[in-house]
Amino acid sequence: MSVSDKTRSLLNPGGGCPAGYGRPKDDSVKEKPVKSGSGSTNEQEGINLMVETNGLSYGDYLQLDKILTAQTCQSEIHGELVHDEHLFIVIHQAYELWFKQVIFEIDSIRKIFQQDIIEEALMLEVNKRLQRVVMIAKHLADQVLILETMTPLDFMDFRDHLSTASGFQSLQFRLIENKLGVKSEHRVRYNRSNYRDVYKEKEKELEQLMKSEEDPSLFDLIERWLMRTPGTNVNDDFCFSKSYQDAINSILEESLKDIENESNPKVREVLLNSYKKKKEQYSSIFDQEKHDSLIARGERRLSFQALHGALMISLYREEPIFHLPHQVLQSLMDIDSLITKWRYNHVMLVQRMLGSSQIGTGGSSGYQYLRSTLSERYKVFLDLFNLSTFLIPRQFLPPLTKEVTKIMAGYLYTPVQR
Ligand code: HEM
Repeated sequence: MSVSDKTRSLLNPGGGCPAGYGRPKDDSVKEKPVKSGSGSTNEQEGINLMVETNGLSYGDYLQLDKILTAQTCQSEIHGELVHDEHLFIVIHQAYELWFKQVIFEIDSIRKIFQQDIIEEALMLEVNKRLQRVVMIAKHLADQVLILETMTPLDFMDFRDHLSTASGFQSLQFRLIENKLGVKSEHRVRYNRSNYRDVYKEKEKELEQLMKSEEDPSLFDLIERWLMRTPGTNVNDDFCFSKSYQDAINSILEESLKDIENESNPKVREVLLNSYKKKKEQYSSIFDQEKHDSLIARGERRLSFQALHGALMISLYREEPIFHLPHQVLQSLMDIDSLITKWRYNHVMLVQRMLGSSQIGTGGSSGYQYLRSTLSERYKVFLDLFNLSTFLIPRQFLPPLTKEVTKIMAGYLYTPVQR
């Protein structure tokens, strides 16, 4: 008997579980109905759709025959099974599956940002997918804790069987880094070698890696999108950069007056030094030359105009037009933070398993190498974190006229030729 997919979904409107779990195994076996607390017997009704309709089974749909037969413990092959090796394999495989999903989401978001016109509805989708990546990254950072239930001695029992295999060779991990926007020149090198060298003999993997370096990363696309923020160009009707600079100047003037009125000379000196520091910091956001020299030193990443766009979105986040863009910026920071948390948890795990001086199976200095990857070099959206330095109290914000807000609504989601 064959039933169309449409009919099957009508019969089984819940539809989430492909095998129709929760229904009696065999409809021909008539069990005595058991009354539930409410007295209803509906819970026992139904048929086994998969069997009756010769439909797709849970295992076939998920190709579990492939996934569940891929846990080959090397310790078992070489003599005696070491219990914890099974967990070690499963956890790495689970990571790789989640990496795959993250790549899938990031690729789809990059595709949306590559469009010239981004409809507002699509921005909702971007936000949803970024949120999903945030949730997965949270899960990945926590998952390290499961492996911490293994002791260093348990690990020692099968570590030799790993031979030269190492997480350092995870192609998907590198693809995630590159697709987000980690730059080759920011990477920590070990043994004076490039991270690509591990793929020397693997043509297809190397090709994928090179492509991920060359294609526009999420960072590149977000930067381009931020540059569309109205008011960040001197030629715009409402020039945010100019009115923001005026607001900063009046804040600085006021605080200088307060400092000059301070009667205690020691306090005055401290306040004056902090004032000078603040003034210098602010000048880095108005002076393109200073900004560019920070970029050259690797302390800033976003272009001058894109940084102003991000700042404007953060300052005016309560304006309805900036709600979605502000959420996007928040999610990007969350992703960066959670990957850093994963790195930290992983480094702690490695120190627990290997100590601080044992080399890794991949050949690095192990803990020492991994600790150096905790630096800001790997934070893609570093500038968004540092924006807080430039936020000003609400009462000093230059007001946005209704006219400007209207213009903005049209600008943010459409291309602007700069
Ligand atoms: C007992 C558990 C683990 C130990 C002792 C360990 C050890 C190491 C070491 C020593 C390195 C440095 C490269 C090398 O010389 O091999 C490394 C890198 C790496 N490991 Fe692990 N690892 C463990 C678990 C995991 C897990 C569960 C994952 C999840 C996918 C993972 C993913 C990675 C990645 C992606 C790198 C490259 C990091 C980078 O270069 O920034 N590791 N691991």
